[in-house]
This record gives sequence, structure tokens and C-alpha cells, in this order.
Amino acid sequence: MSKRFYLTTAIDYVNGQPHLGHAYEKIVTDVLARARRSLGEEVFFLTGLDEHGQKVQQAALDSGKTPQAYCDELAAIWQAFGKKLNLSNDDFVRTSEPRHKAVVQAILSRLHAAGHFYKSKYSGFYSLKEETFLTEKDRRPDGTFDPGYGEVVQLIEDNYYFKLNAHQQWLIDYLEANPEFIQPAQRRNEVLGLLKHELEDLCITRPLGRLNWGIPLPFDPDFVTWVWFDALVNYVSVPAAHADKAVLSVLDAPELETQNPALELWPADIHVIGKDILKFHAAYWPVMLKAMGLPLPKIILAHGWWQKDGEKMSKTTGNVVDPVAVIDEWGVDAFRYYVVRELDIGPDGNWTDSGFQARYSAELANGLGNLVNRSLSMLKRYRNGLVPQRHNELEPEADQVVRQTISRLRANQPQGALQAIWSLVNRANQYVDQTAPFKLAKDPAKAARLDEVLFNLAEASRVLAVLLWPFIPGTAERIYSQLGLTESPDQLKNAAWGGLPVGHRIAEPAALFPKKETTKR
Ligand code: MSP
Repeated sequence: MSKRFYLTTAIDYVNGQPHLGHAYEKIVTDVLARARRSLGEEVFFLTGLDEHGQKVQQAALDSGKTPQAYCDELAAIWQAFGKKLNLSNDDFVRTSEPRHKAVVQAILSRLHAAGHFYKSKYSGFYSLKEETFLTEKDRRPDGTFDPGYGEVVQLIEDNYYFKLNAHQQWLIDYLEANPEFIQPAQRRNEVLGLLKHELEDLCITRPLGRLNWGIPLPFDPDFVTWVWFDALVNYVSVPAAHADKAVLSVLDAPELETQNPALELWPADIHVIGKDILKFHAAYWPVMLKAMGLPLPKIILAHGWWQKDGEKMSKTTGNVVDPVAVIDEWGVDAFRYYVVRELDIGPDGNWTDSGFQARYSAELANGLGNLVNRSLSMLKRYRNGLVPQRHNELEPEADQVVRQTISRLRANQPQGALQAIWSLVNRANQYVDQTAPFKLAKDPAKAARLDEVLFNLAEASRVLAVLLWPFIPGTAERIYSQLGLTESPDQLKNAAWGGLPVGHRIAEPAALFPKKETTKR
């Protein structure tokens, strides 16, 4: 058994509404996970939910439920959301699960024993909404705090602190020496900029009196663990639950041994996260791992944020994109295609209904859909659906697109990969116009030429299905079944030209992306 390619997403707050931003991150990760599987690698793709904290405790209380019952209900919604997005995750973590809590406690015990924590009195400001301590630096010139912090109260309380500051120089040196660790480069610079200021030690507890919906501190029953110290650990608690030796060997906790078949997962190959949680992943998490004696993840890939119609999405103003409504109306693959094609990993993006519909119509319905439909329909009409002799006119272009797609997928550039794939879609559509098979069909003397053209079009459609599988797996599978192929287009090695067997009979063509009235703005 060898190490799997291990990808994670951020774990979503269970009490939020699944929206476009969450969907985007999970789809991007799913595309990278499927791409690796398609390249023949063994993959482990993890996503899940962040369930502890004050807000969840309060919301549960308000609804008359226990926090666990409240989370169970919401978790069902999130898991259904993942299915709706057609995610291929291998596990789904919930931070309220015993398997996760046990690992957090083992880590806390170990770090405590090794002297990484100290107890100290905190006196200062606290944002109830953000569940975070504020300092004088967070005040605005007029002395008030940003309204985003909600109600700010004064607190005096004991807490445990993690000695983060002691590792600051090590972290800077690591980032300098490993330029690929935080991607894209702009985000790496942001973290290096942040590290020009001194990092304060990290408060990792909340007193039980104030919060009980959290993981109890194993060495002091008066405290629970701060949500981030709990949440980040999901990336190693799930490997531990899958008996990953790399993690279990440093935890020194025989009670965590499981009967599960052992997987080799850690270190993660990619943590996909949004730009807002960069500090937690690129500063706190590496230091936590160093203290635990675990290797660091290979890449932290930080994406930008979506807006709608140029403004922040907000439930209160109703300015949101509901992925489920879009999927119900347009299909999951149209949604998956659009978000990955529209927004490169890095900058911020903007959803407009008209932009979505324009891509649907030009690139999916008239581009890919039309190509496959007319290629297969003509093969059916002119050759009774039988694949003619192999011909290689489009092979050089197809091969080049396959190479570009693979190298961009390996470089975690799914948008670039789609651009490459569409250059083949466009070339093949242009080929139909240039060769005019409907005219060739009228002249019996051109039968051999028509065979050539029909082979090139059917084979280009097949190659496209293989290339598209990581992005729009349902559509890729539909193309394969319309081609009468029973296997799955899920292996990129099958994108090599010439895979369509001569004499094979294709199945029934049908529209992949029905044309729609685009009435909405
Ligand atoms: N629970 C924490 C993450 C813990 S990871 C150990 C959290 N949850 S969240 O629900 O607020 O956000 C989950 C992910 O969704 C984050 O990566 C965040 O950046 C992303 N997005 C939330 N809103 C977004 C947009 N509007 N656009 C793109 N992604 C956004 O943070």
C-alpha cells in the first residue's frame, strides 16, 4: 500500500446556510480529487463540518434542542448538499464525532506534557459574535470596534495559551524556503506580510462556564477547547481514524488504535481553503503540527471569494446565490462547469445570472452539446451508427489538448484546464463547419472523406468525455453511453487518440444541455 493523494476542504460551520462560496470550494476540491484518480493515483478526499462553539450552543438552546440533536439535523442538510454537488469525498468528518474528539484530546495531552501550553489571566475585550479576543489594535480611530464584531464585552478570565510566538522565526524561514507551500503567490506574500508583526500566543480554551459545547480539555475540567484548535485537527483526526501510522505514531495514545484497514494519508497534499482563513492554516496550523512532530501539508491552496452582482452575498439583503435552486433548474454539471470556468483559484469572483446563462448557452449548449449531438447524429444518419475506419486528422490537436489539460490539472489550475479543453471543443465545431459532412453525404463519390470526418468527430467527442470527467462527470458518462461505450470515462490514459473501436455501433444521441429561454437578468 502506498500513500494516497490526500486533499481536504475547509470544514463548514454547521449553523450556516450552504451557499455558492461553500459549493465552489467543494467543487474545486472535487475536480482536483477526480483528476488525480483519473491520472491513476489513489486519492483520499475529505470534507465535513465544524460543529462546536458558542453560536451553535446558543442556536440549539434557542430552538429547544440539545446541541448534538441540533447539529445532527443540520449535518443531514450539509451531507445532502454534498450529494447534490456530486462530490466524490471518501469521508465526511463532523467535529462532534467521538473519533475526532479523541484525537483532539490526545494532541492536547501530548502538547501539554511537552510544555507547549501555559495558563494565564486574560483581561480585555471579547467579540461574542466572532468568538474572538480583541486588542487595542482592533479599535477604530474613534475608539469603537468594527460592527462586524457584533457585541463586544469586557472579560477577565483564566485561559490556556499555546506558545505560538516562540515558533515565529521558524515559520518565516519555512515559508521562505518553501515557496510552493502557500499558493497562489499573492497569498504567500500576504502571510509573510502578516509575519512582519509579532504573533501573539494563541488562547486555546474557553472556560466551561461560558461554553460547554466543545471538546473538554483533558488536563483541566474547567475548560473546553477553542473551536479552531479543535477544527484544524480534523485534517489529522480522520487519518488517525483510518489507522494512518504517520499520525498514530506521534500521538502515543494506544486507545486510538482501530481495527480499520490502515491507510497512508498524512501529510495532506493539498488543503483547499478560502482567503479569509489563511492565517489559521498558514500560521497556526503549521506551528501546531511542528509542536506535534508531524510533517506539514504540502500545499495550502487559497481561493478568493464570490460576490453576487458586485456585492457581498448576504442573507439579510437576499443577495445570495442558492446553488440548489440553480442546480434544480440548470443541472449540476452546468453549475460545476460555470464556477470552475469562471473563477480562477486566487482572485475574487462575481456571480451574475446573465454571466451564468451566457456561458451555459455559448459554451455548454452551443459548444460542447452541439458538437457531440451533431457528430453522433450524423454518424447515426449517414453510417447507421457504425464507427468507420480510424482517421487521424484531429489527433495532433487533441493530443496537445490532452497534454495541456493534464499538466494544468497537476498544477492545480482547473480553470486553465477547462480553457484548454474548450480549444478542442471549438476546433472540432469549426471542423464540422469546414468539412461540411452534410454536403459530403449528398455526393457518393465523397463517401471515403465522409468516413474520415465522422471518425474524427466521434473520436474527438470521446476524448472530450475523458478530459471532462473530473469536471462534469455526469455529462462525461452520458457522452460515453451515447457513444455506446459501457466503461466509464474516468481514466485520463484513455484520452489517447484512437480509442473508439472501428465497426462499433454507437447508441442514441440526445441533447446534453437543452437550450433554454434565458429570460432572467
Ligand atoms: N469552520 C471554518 C473553517 C474551519 S477549517 C479547519 C469556516 N467555516 S465557513 O463555513 O465560514 O467557511 C467555509 C469555507 O467556505 C471557507 O474556506 C470560506 O473561505 C469559504 N467561503 C465562505 N464564503 C465564501 C464566499 N463568499 N466565496 C468563496 N468562499 C467562501 O471558516
